[in-house]
This record gives sequence, C-alpha cells and structure tokens, in this order.
Amino acid sequence: MTPSASSSSDPGGTPARELFGSKWGFVLAAVGSAVGLGNMWRFSYVAAEGGGAAFVFLYIIMIGLLGIPLMLCELTVGRRTHLSPIGALRALGGKGWVPLGFLFVTAGFLILSYYSVIAGWTLRYTVEAATVGFAADPGAHFGEIAAGGTAIMWHLIFMVLTIGIVMIGVQKGIEKAATILMPTLALIVVGLAVWAFTLPGAGAGYAFYLQPDFGDLFDRTTIRQAVAQAFFSLSLGMGAMLTFASYLSRDTDLNQEAATISFADFFVAFAAGLVVFPVIFALGLQDSVTASTVGALFISLPGAFLEMGGAGRLVGFLFFLALAVGALTSAISLLEVVTASIIDELGMTRARAAIGVGILIAAVGILSALSTDLLGLIDQIAGDLFLVMGALGMSIFVGWAMKDDPSAELRRGAGPTFARFIPGVVFLIRFVLPPVIGIVLIFSIQDAWGAITSFLAGG
Ligand code: PHE
Repeated sequence: MTPSASSSSDPGGTPARELFGSKWGFVLAAVGSAVGLGNMWRFSYVAAEGGGAAFVFLYIIMIGLLGIPLMLCELTVGRRTHLSPIGALRALGGKGWVPLGFLFVTAGFLILSYYSVIAGWTLRYTVEAATVGFAADPGAHFGEIAAGGTAIMWHLIFMVLTIGIVMIGVQKGIEKAATILMPTLALIVVGLAVWAFTLPGAGAGYAFYLQPDFGDLFDRTTIRQAVAQAFFSLSLGMGAMLTFASYLSRDTDLNQEAATISFADFFVAFAAGLVVFPVIFALGLQDSVTASTVGALFISLPGAFLEMGGAGRLVGFLFFLALAVGALTSAISLLEVVTASIIDELGMTRARAAIGVGILIAAVGILSALSTDLLGLIDQIAGDLFLVMGALGMSIFVGWAMKDDPSAELRRGAGPTFARFIPGVVFLIRFVLPPVIGIVLIFSIQDAWGAITSFLAGG
C-alpha cells in the first residue's frame, strides 16, 4: 500500500490527509501509544495497591468488557471521519459534542505535562546506569532527582524528543519510530522476565502477582483503579486511538486491530509484572512499592538492580531504556492528539502546531517537575477522572448519539473471524459501557475530590 490522500467520500476529512504507510505502521504506532509508562510504572504500583493478583484479574476482565469495545468506538469514529477528535465529533454528532473533543484535548495536554516528567526520570536513570551506576541509597536518590532542577532538565529533554518526532509527521516520524522502538521494547521486557525467573526467592513475587484473594475483587477502589488503568494503559478516553485511526485507510479490519493492540498492551504489562514483582520480592522490597506510590518503580527497582552487582547494572540499564522507549512512543500520541486538533481546527502547519503546543505543555509540566505530590494529583485528575469521563462520553456518543450506525464502519474491511463479534460489541457499547462506566465515574469523582482536598490541606 502506498501513501495516499484520503477518499473524498469522508464526511469531513481534509483532502490531502497523510495516512499510515502500512497496516503494520498503524498497529505499531497504536501499540506504541498504548505501551508505555502505564504498563510498568503505573501498572505495578496500582497492582500493588489493589492487592496484586485480585487487581490483575479485574484488570483483564475490564480490558475485555470495556476496553476493547471502547477502543472500537474510537477507531470507528476516527476512520469514518478522517478527522481529529473535535472535528470528528462535530461531523458525526453536531456542535453539542464539541465539548467532549475539548475534554480529550485537555486530557492529552495535562497527561503529557506530567508524563514527560516521569519519562525524564526514566531517561536520567538510563544514563546513570550507563555511566556511574545506580546510587547507593535509591530512596534518597529518587528524592533528589524527582523534583527540582534535574527533573526539569530531563523533562525538557524528553519534550524536545517528543516534539521533534511529531513535527516530522505521521509516516516518517511516528510510524518509523514505532516500527523500530516497539519490537526493541518487547524483546527487552521478555528477556528481563526470563532473567527474573532465575532469581532465588522470586516465588513469593509470583504468588503475590498471580494468586488472587477473591475478597479484594469487590473492593470499590480496586474496581475503579482496574477500570481507570485499563483506559490509561490502552490510551482510551482522550481521543488518541481516534486520532491515529483518522490516518487509516478504509481497507483494514478494525476489530482485528483492536484485538491485536489490546493483546500487545496487556502482554507487555503482564510481562513487566513478571519482572517487577519477582525482583522486588526476591530482595524483600515489597514495602517500598506500596509506601511511595508515584516513585515505587524508581525506588524499588534500582535498589534491586544495585544488589545484583554488575549484572544488575546491565539489566537495569536495559529496563530503563525500554521504559524510556515506551514512554516516547506514548508521549508522541499524546502530543499528536493536541497537535492534530490544532492543525485541523486552526489550519496551522504541523511544525508550528507541534512546537507551539509542545512548549506550552513543557511549561505546564515544570509544575509537576517541582512537586511529586502535584504530579500524583494531576495523574489522578487527568489520567483517571478525565479518562473515565471521556470514555463515558465516547460510549454514549457511539452507542446512542452519532448519526451513523457503528456496525457499518465496524463491518467495513472486517474478515469473517471478527465480523461475528460485531453485534455483541455493539450491544456492549450501548447497554453495558454507559452504566458501568457511569458508576465508575461516581467513584472517580469521589476519589479525585478526596485527593484534591488532601492535597490542599498539605497532606
Ligand atoms: N497508554 C499510555 C501508557 O500506558 C499512556 C497514554 C494514555 C497515552 C492516554 C495516550 C493516551 O503509558
């Protein structure tokens, strides 16, 4: 398939919209968006808070029940319109749906602002592992680099990389980067999981991670976190998948792609758990995972790598390198949502839009680079509450409000294997997603409110 302009039958697509050069380019870019800090940094601490295996079990259910149908909502709307979120919602639903598009763009903006700070820590650890080795006291070291001048510097370096790739464009920038970086990351994580298996004492980690205590399954916070984590990790609820699908030509099977993307994302998160938990338990560091939520991964793992001597340093270098790679391909998609919206809505050039908004995001991110508490709070608001709100809006839009029948776009290009599931998926979108996500939204609002008040009270 060659790059081509979008077809003229779109309800609103720009005439010469750049498309992905190949089907695999799209899938890898979407997997690149999904796989990132969420799979390792966020997954491991949320799983630890939610009782380990019980959380993992719920998380798997939520991916199938809510995640895949929601991803199909985004993919249909994006490919149908060949427009970025605001325009796509307007084209299929009228002006009343534009605010949902703004919510998406705001979420993308805010998530990238702190995501880049965490990615900056990751870059810093990668370089440290390669040059001086991990610090002797990982807790104290994290305290020094997580907030302040160093954090700001690495955050800015990471933003420059992200802006550079988005400026270059969809095929040469995003697609190329994902095609090289995603397989590299998968190889590193699988290699690490095999290595972790050989550690003495790893068994306790597997037990924590894989043997559910079914009592935890009905815990309200665990349920909320499993849902929010499914959305965050699959990049749903803020238009990232919608935007990528807008660069997709008509002849692909969206159902198959949603399945591939979700599986790949789950696979990396699961494999990362097979690294993180055995390593942490082998060294008796489990307390540090739950004690410092935001910093869990950055304190416990370097501690573990340190104890393992020279081999640990190499493994640690590879781990943080993989994490930085995943973070970069996710950050690209966050910036792309905002950039594409500006290009489509304001008619700016790609380079100007990416640089302009990238600088704004970098500036806002400095606040998160000054306080890890603030970073955690913004994560809870934008990375949890906003995504749940966005997901609810999206499911109502596709299930009930938009003028097209969603199954028509899902059928287009669908092979017989996946076509069978379409009626079931549409049922889920209309009758299961809105009520279930609605309930989770109530939990999210309550918890975000609690987090805001405790932050303001200085706790
Ligand atoms: N899915 C990414 C991750 O797991 C984060 C992300 C969220 C990216 C939302 C885009 C949109 O790291």
